[in-house]
Amino acid sequence: MKRSIIKSTGRYLPERHVTNEQLTEIMDTSNEWIVQRTGIEARYWVEEGSSDGTSDLAHYAARKALGKAGWEPADLDLIVLATMTPDVNVPGSGALLQNLLGAKGVPALDIRQQCTGFLHGFEVCDAYIRSEKAEKILFVGAELQSRYLKVTTANRDTAVIFADGAGAICIEGKETDEEVGFITSILHADGGHADVLKFGLPAQKAGNPISVEILENEDHFPYMDGKTVFKTAVTRLPRVANELFKKANLSVDDIDLFILHQANLRINESFRDRMKIPEDKMYNNIQRYGNTTAATIPICLDELYEANRLKSGDTIMLLGLGAGITWGGVIYKVD
Ligand code: UT7
Repeated sequence: MKRSIIKSTGRYLPERHVTNEQLTEIMDTSNEWIVQRTGIEARYWVEEGSSDGTSDLAHYAARKALGKAGWEPADLDLIVLATMTPDVNVPGSGALLQNLLGAKGVPALDIRQQCTGFLHGFEVCDAYIRSEKAEKILFVGAELQSRYLKVTTANRDTAVIFADGAGAICIEGKETDEEVGFITSILHADGGHADVLKFGLPAQKAGNPISVEILENEDHFPYMDGKTVFKTAVTRLPRVANELFKKANLSVDDIDLFILHQANLRINESFRDRMKIPEDKMYNNIQRYGNTTAATIPICLDELYEANRLKSGDTIMLLGLGAGITWGGVIYKVD
């Protein structure tokens, strides 16, 4: 049977390092508030005036992962890009990434599931591998969110959280009878809560895709009801983790490392408390990067592989919740 194996990983963070202190010079906030309420100490944003788009960030991370795998772009059977900040509305950034790579003729998909984009994309890649429709897949989570942020006191809840970055993985199909690689996943959506976190405008649904009124009301910036998202995350993440345990016939003790979406350190600590997970079995890097949405989990994976913290036989659980709302998790066993 074909199993999906992570062959290599890569990450890219833009050069502009933005500390909490720097944000206090632009709006009414403080390092203490941001650290206490979110865990974030700094983040990376693209340089002002940079011509890079999301596909460029994805490209930089992808080159690193491909280099480590020893793959050429032409070797790929499929490119998948998860992002909530595509370069343009149409076409998808996956096709733009394919062009930057020079991967002529290779099909390219976009995944638009925001904070759970990596989980959804990973499941899609696994389906391609298991069905033998693809043997070598490049899968990237990338976001360029800083250009969508309004860095003002009125918007300080979103401005301090969201950040730019990209994480890439090369996934290979391996013929084996062993239970390794992508083990199982559970994904959920509840579009009834679509309004709690959205980049609502400009939109075709608004009748007039863009108008002076939209611009004057500043409705084109992201809106987040942070409290509701927070409460939803702290209840649904443990619930879906338990669903996964049941499905895979595993328990907390069988998991070597929990890697959660990096939206707020307090969400992840609440999960750890509720699930009674030892501190050294959770990995967080939101302190250094902020919330890079679809890029958070692959950036974590790249750091962990680089630090040699993921060893053959380790079982990891990936979990996330975000806009949609969507939530879910994946269990993966390191080959
Ligand atoms: O990845 C996508 C999914 N997103 C999430 O998972 C986000 C989940 N939610 C959160 O992370 C938190 O709700 C936030 C960090 C966004 C906000 O934290 P909070 O503890 O829920 O604060 P709050 O919105 O209830 O605001 C409390 C106070 C308010 O002031 P008043 O009305 O009490 O005077 C806010 O205006 O904190 C104020 N505040 C800030 N103060 C300083 C909000 N943002 C800031 C800020 N700096 N950046």
